[in-house]
Amino acid sequence: MSENKILEVIKKRRSVRNFKRVEIPEDIIKDIVDCGRLAPTARNLQPWKFVVITKRPSLKEIAGLTDYGKFLKDASCCILVFCENTKYYLEDGCAATENILIAAQAYGIGSCWIAGDKKSYAEPIAKIVGAPEKWKLVSIIALGYAAGETACPKKKSLNDVLSWEHW
Ligand SMILES: Cc1cc2nc3c(=O)[nH]c(=O)nc-3n(C[C@H](O)[C@H](O)[C@H](O)COP(=O)(O)O)c2cc1C
Repeated sequence: MSENKILEVIKKRRSVRNFKRVEIPEDIIKDIVDCGRLAPTARNLQPWKFVVITKRPSLKEIAGLTDYGKFLKDASCCILVFCENTKYYLEDGCAATENILIAAQAYGIGSCWIAGDKKSYAEPIAKIVGAPEKWKLVSIIALGYAAGETACPKKKSLNDVLSWEHW
C-alpha cells in the first residue's frame, strides 16, 4: 500500500456502529489480528491475547453486558483485547487496538472501539471467555461491513491542537 493510501486509511476511519449481516472471511480477521500483534509494546513484552468472537449468542451476551456497546449484537464479530497486568499493559493494549482499527479500515471493514479497561463488565466478560484471572480486558472491538451512513463526529482542527516548540 502506498504511503498516501495508508494516510487516507487513517484519516478516513470513523467508528461504525451499524453493520450488515455479512461474515468477514477468517483469513482477513487473522490478518487484522496480526496487525494488532505487531503493535509497539513497552520492553517488547507483547503482553496481549486476542480472542475473536463470531457466534451470535456470544456477541449478544457480551453486548448486553456493556454500557455503550449494545450495537455489538449485530456486528460480524468482535475482538477482545486482553493484556497481562504489566506496568504498561494499558498503553500496549491500546496500541494493539488502534492497529486493529486501522487494519480493519484498510480492508474496508468498519469497527468501533468499545471500552473494556476500568469497566465493571470487564471481569464478567473475561470470565465468559475463560481468561485467566491476571488478564485484563483492555478493549472490545466490534467489526463488520458498515450499513447506512457512518456518523462523522466533529474533530478539533489541527490548529487547535498543534503548537511548535512551545505550548
Ligand atoms: C478508550 C475508548 C473507549 C471507547 N468506548 C466506546 C464505547 O464504549 N462505545 C462506543 O460506542 N464508542 C466507544 N469509543 C469510540 C468513541 O466514541 C469514538 O472513537 C469517538 O466518538 C470519536 O469518533 P470516531 O471514532 O468516529 O473518530 C471508545 C473509544 C475509545 C478510545
